Amino acid sequence: MVSPIISDAIRTMPKAELHLHIEGTLEPELAYELAERNKVELPFAGLEDLRQRYHFTNLQSFLDLYYELMNVLRTADDFKDLVLAYLSKAHEQGVVRSEIFFDPQVHVENGIDIDTVLDGLLAGTLLGRERYGISCGLIPCIVRDMPVQSAEEIVDALAPRASELLGLGLDSAEVGYPPELFGDVFARAREIGLHLVAHAGEEGPAEYVSQAVHDLKVERVDHGIRSVEDAELLNTIQERGIALTCCPLSNLKLKVVNDLDELPLQRLIDSGVSITVNSDDPAYFGGYIADNYDALAELGFTLPQLAQLAENSLHAAFVDDDERDGMLKAFSLWAQTHKDLLV
Ligand code: HPA
Ligand code: ZN
Repeated sequence: MVSPIISDAIRTMPKAELHLHIEGTLEPELAYELAERNKVELPFAGLEDLRQRYHFTNLQSFLDLYYELMNVLRTADDFKDLVLAYLSKAHEQGVVRSEIFFDPQVHVENGIDIDTVLDGLLAGTLLGRERYGISCGLIPCIVRDMPVQSAEEIVDALAPRASELLGLGLDSAEVGYPPELFGDVFARAREIGLHLVAHAGEEGPAEYVSQAVHDLKVERVDHGIRSVEDAELLNTIQERGIALTCCPLSNLKLKVVNDLDELPLQRLIDSGVSITVNSDDPAYFGGYIADNYDALAELGFTLPQLAQLAENSLHAAFVDDDERDGMLKAFSLWAQTHKDLLV
């Protein structure tokens, strides 16, 4: 167990969450509440039955449940409420900046208008900023196991509102859907001013990380842990200052590793790569962001090491210089008030 003093310090440490799927923050209780509100029939015997299903054997077994539950999200208010529920938890865990993924192709396939999705998510982030002081950005992700044409269509649909978005990402079932398939889609996203990120090297090989870096020209890699298998790639990632958004509890729950101590985080850090800590899909994986930091503390990471990871997240966030300076000042203030724990 992490000592309460360290756990409290982790929770007040200013940090950015850079790998968070808003649909993955849908807690079972809220899923049932929205299902009732929207008269959506869920294929479970009830809340308890649903709760029993949170055991996964791999990424796909999780995605099956995750996509099923997304069907309860129907109105702009649903999306707004989902964002607010997440931000209230993130606030308690020291998040000052959140760059939020969502899967627009799936919502459109569910019959929801893209503007409804965007209006609801944006309303949630604006209210969240007022209530909790958390600054947010939205990153739609291409669902890589849907046809490339669908990816092109969703970028076309999002383009008129590109100024309201932060970036473009790539998620869903990885193996068999290499990043190189999406070179043109990402080039277009770059033209319309979006930052670029992609999931790679979670279940897929280092080669997929290499494609994300070289073919998609991403600025961060989500997960990326299998980069450790390719020394040349590690050099490139380090030289270009590409941060990896790691999600320890996700990797454990999806059986990417059997034990947290199998994660190559220290080896990645030793090769000079910027590592950040994130929760991915916290409602499904047993913890929000500070719980992920706690898990690393239990593995033996010290508070100074964890503070470095939080500081990395502030440097890797897609914010302007003024905002970054403000976040780094808040971080310095925290470090000053916790200096006895940081020696
Ligand atoms: N990996 C890939 N796609 C996802 C994930 C993930 O961990 N969560 C939601 N979509
Ligand atoms: Zn993810």
